[in-house]
Amino acid sequence: MTNTGSYDDLHSQLHGLLEGERDLIANAANTAAIIYHTLPDLNWAGFYFLHGDELLLGPFQGKPACVRIAVGQGVCAAAAGHRQTVLVEDVHRFPGHIACDTASNSEIVLPIIVGDRLIGVLDLDSPVVGRFHAEDQAGLEKLVEIFIAATDMGT
Ligand code: SME
Repeated sequence: MTNTGSYDDLHSQLHGLLEGERDLIANAANTAAIIYHTLPDLNWAGFYFLHGDELLLGPFQGKPACVRIAVGQGVCAAAAGHRQTVLVEDVHRFPGHIACDTASNSEIVLPIIVGDRLIGVLDLDSPVVGRFHAEDQAGLEKLVEIFIAATDMGT
């Protein structure tokens, strides 16, 4: 997506969708669904939450996915470990990438951080090489902020 206006629409839709509900699983489920059904060229969108020292699969849209990801493995763990968004133009060139769905060719993973606590990550996969750009990163980081503000994280 190259049009930040579309992210503005997505942000206001998400605000409306999450309004009045603060449950983590419910809000994560609806956030994954609105992303998956709004942004073009995705084959997976969803959450992994930090449990102990591994990432555990949360609500998502797309094909069934790897359930547990150890620290240090793949793109999700890289974003969690560095507490920074990781944008991968071609997953086949990312050492350690975990291929849950062979259709995935590019990926963006955003950390979910509340205060100084890492809650988990938001992961989007695309069949299109180079699908995600700086404007997607900015739009999705703002979307994560909206999700965090609307949701009780059990902190
Ligand atoms: N590709 C991810 C694993 C999660 S799936 O894409 C849903 C990774 O390398 O961490």
